[in-house]
Amino acid sequence: MGHAARTRLAPADAASVAEAAALLRAGGLVAFPTETVYGLGADAASGTAVARIYAAKGRPSFNPLIAHVGSLADARREGVFNAAALTLARAFWPGPLTLVVPAAPGCSVCDLARAGLPSLALRVPSSRIALALLALAERPIAAPSANRSGRVSPTLAEHVMADLDGRIDFVLDGGAAEVGVESTIVSCLEAEPLLLRPGGITRGAIEAALGRPLRAADPGDADGEAPLAPGQLASHYAPRAALRLNAAQPLAGEAALDFGHQFWRSGDGLRLDLSPDGDPIEAAANLFGYLRRLDASGAAVIAVAPIPREGLGEAIMDRLTRAAAPRG
Ligand code: TXA
Ligand code: MG
Repeated sequence: MGHAARTRLAPADAASVAEAAALLRAGGLVAFPTETVYGLGADAASGTAVARIYAAKGRPSFNPLIAHVGSLADARREGVFNAAALTLARAFWPGPLTLVVPAAPGCSVCDLARAGLPSLALRVPSSRIALALLALAERPIAAPSANRSGRVSPTLAEHVMADLDGRIDFVLDGGAAEVGVESTIVSCLEAEPLLLRPGGITRGAIEAALGRPLRAADPGDADGEAPLAPGQLASHYAPRAALRLNAAQPLAGEAALDFGHQFWRSGDGLRLDLSPDGDPIEAAANLFGYLRRLDASGAAVIAVAPIPREGLGEAIMDRLTRAAAPRG
């Protein structure tokens, strides 16, 4: 599934939901209605499919995405639920609540969708169309809001077309998304849950279900695109090794992260090429996994080949620049 030259828009009847599920299973991009806003979906296990989400949205950075699943049972194959997470899932799923939990050992959600984090965001949407699509796709579907980066979240299929026509494969038209704001995000990484983003489920309702007050992080921007709290940024995967960006060639003892086969000298450390053909989609899909492998090789420094800041190259360089910044 390459870049979609033409975007098909169809009413969400049984036939088009089946067609959309087949596209998702083949690595395509499908916008679909949830009860909150329209989501831009891709197979959460496929790094290249997820990379195409960021490319289609024109996102200049890699935020971790929400993995949508059909049931709590499916969610528990992907993430580890503590007591609070179970209470909230049972109270509000299906519905506009997203839970951030530690990734389970068999988690299928790829590194890129999780932005390299050891945790992931999960939600069971209540929209009948979304649930039918998830049932046929038979896998977690990563989906941010189906808008171009910096635009408001879409509540109608026409909004999606206005932003993404020609950039995605399919738009399932299910009419207006009834809630109109994104899901509430609660982190259940610790025993005491933390409100990361206000949304479709009120703080009061969550506190009533928990039987106690909810800690709150900094609210972040209304669109939910920017990092929600400084702590969330700090929790992004950071390699232990130092990164030497725009390296001409790896030096003795350095591990090497190449792009488009630019390195001809061996740095005698582990050397991985994000994309030998210089394809930024393939490079984005490999980014976090390769950083982790190079870091685990024990090298003190990872030499990184120059990567053009075009298309997804901008987000890749944003991530690498953050990883290269000195940490306290
Ligand atoms: O209502 C919604 O939630 C919509 C519909 C389509 O489901 N989706 C949505 O996704 O708003 P998105 O990608 O625009 O927002 C996902 C938010 C981001 O702010 C991201 O930082 C946060 O979830 N997030 C995802 N994984 C996380 C993690 N492991 N830790 C902390 N925050 C996470
Ligand atoms: Mg959004």
